[in-house]
Amino acid sequence: MDLFGRDFIVTQEWSIDQLRAALDLAAAMKRERFHPRFTGILKNRTFFMFFYNPSVRTRQSFECAATELGGHAQFLQPEGMRLKTATTAGETVEDAAKVMSRYAAGIGIRILEDKVPVYGAGNELLREYAKWATVPIINMADDKFHPCQGMADIMGWAEWFGEGSGRPNYENLRGKNFLLTWASGALARSWCSVQEAMIIASRFGMNVTVARPEGYDLDPEVVAWTKANCEANGAAFRAIADPEAGYDGAHVVYSRNWVTPQAYQDGAFQKAIEQKKSAAHTGWTTDARRMARTDNGIFTHPMPVDRGLEVTDEVASGPRSAIYDVAENRLHVQKAVMALTMGNI
Ligand code: CP
Repeated sequence: MDLFGRDFIVTQEWSIDQLRAALDLAAAMKRERFHPRFTGILKNRTFFMFFYNPSVRTRQSFECAATELGGHAQFLQPEGMRLKTATTAGETVEDAAKVMSRYAAGIGIRILEDKVPVYGAGNELLREYAKWATVPIINMADDKFHPCQGMADIMGWAEWFGEGSGRPNYENLRGKNFLLTWASGALARSWCSVQEAMIIASRFGMNVTVARPEGYDLDPEVVAWTKANCEANGAAFRAIADPEAGYDGAHVVYSRNWVTPQAYQDGAFQKAIEQKKSAAHTGWTTDARRMARTDNGIFTHPMPVDRGLEVTDEVASGPRSAIYDVAENRLHVQKAVMALTMGNI
């Protein structure tokens, strides 16, 4: 599978065979984490990590990934780079991308929420870097997509429905019921993780139910992709406004707060308004009573978890919680993506 030089901006733009190549390599890397055939793949090479927003998992897992492949990850923040913006003079994306390409093996970018003026602008910036860079651009979460999270999600679920750690079975996910439910929460989350989860679940043949209060629809284009993926796989898609019904027969439950389509107004992310709107909807927390309605389902979440609002402690830390497995998988899938797009493999 030749993925050398490819950008990774959304999983929908890679074929199933390409995604499987990365996932299979990730599983091998998880089983034999420090095997010599993996530890020199990025020897002497540097990966730039360009963060507009904060992160725990993404920064740490990419940094570990570069180290474990024999390379190095360099942490960059825009405030230290004199870049041109809508309101300030500075270096253009074209110049920054072309120069960074002369140094690094790849460039990861995170930009979302309050760092963009309008929905989609973060994704557009990644695509602008991808246009000018001659090395792969890896999406470390923009305002639309979070492909590395989606890969870690599907790998984790396939491990739970497969033979355990490092032994995922993707065929077993076909026909399983995926519940993506909006949840109460104080953090006003962007759409990137939930949209990526919906896309990847549907690519791998799962039935998708999106439960949300009226007014919390996701990006219509991404919903259309999800429906098309479901149709291509003979799976079902439904959107419901009931906080309970989606749990019946679910195999994977993903509860997460997200903002309304009106989150961007007057060129800014309206966090306080979204928090107020969110607080008006009660009864959208995943708890043990609801999980008992599932078909022995697992609980999944990209983290950070808003405990007590998105999900109870009992479920998040319970025996059917996949959250730490998924978080660990960020490391393995990113190693695989970096190896295939930037490495000597
Ligand atoms: N899931 C995720 O991307 O976590 P961070 O925001 O901590 O990187």
